[in-house]
Amino acid sequence: SRLWAVVPAAGRGSRFGAALPKQYLPLAGKTVIEHSIAALLRCPEINEVLVALHADDKTFIELACAKHPKVKSVTGGLERAESVELALAALTGAAATDWVLVHDAARPCLSDADVQALLLKGREHPLGAILAARVVDTVKRGNALREAVETVDRNALWRALTPQLFRYGELRAALKHCREHALPVTDEASAMEQFGGRPLLVEGSHRNIKITYPDDLTIATAFLAGGVN
Ligand code: C5P
Repeated sequence: SRLWAVVPAAGRGSRFGAALPKQYLPLAGKTVIEHSIAALLRCPEINEVLVALHADDKTFIELACAKHPKVKSVTGGLERAESVELALAALTGAAATDWVLVHDAARPCLSDADVQALLLKGREHPLGAILAARVVDTVKRGNALREAVETVDRNALWRALTPQLFRYGELRAALKHCREHALPVTDEASAMEQFGGRPLLVEGSHRNIKITYPDDLTIATAFLAGGVN
């Protein structure tokens, strides 16, 4: 079976508060998304990287990576899950049993070692796998009054990162199921879970942060300067 990659990049980055969506902000000599795509292109097994863009996006086409023979783009949707579904539908050459890596445009510090660990462990698992990181803070469940009701056992808690690796056919079916039943989907694994699956958690680097706030660019600059590989 072959390997494909999908990069949801159709978000407007409203939490970030910049004029330009966060994936196009400068970071260590290029833009955030160019680092995220470069990490995928360093994996020669990947056939094609399909990027989901906002309908009004005029920035992506200007980037050097837009000219790479393995990079294609498609118009995304109003929510991340919809962008991923539209990108998967546009991967016309993919077979149901092929594997797909879905990686956020906003995660520029992905290392080769994490990609390789995810591919190795995920393809040995019947369903697939995601990169994940352990929770380091003590976690509280709050009530409507913002009072701490209980402390959740953090040893059982993981933060879901990307890439996330699933079979093309199963991922499309899971996303369709969630859309038709109006189930909330914040990552591909949540769609697979609600479809009855149990994705494997592969412990990844804590450096694989999602750019969400301006400070995250400072942190990512330091990680990239130190070398994520
Ligand atoms: O907003 P959030 O940080 O969760 O976005 C994660 C990724 O999903 C980003 O790369 C963003 O561009 C993408 N996204 C998308 N389509 C949307 C919303 C977000 O592709 N409608």
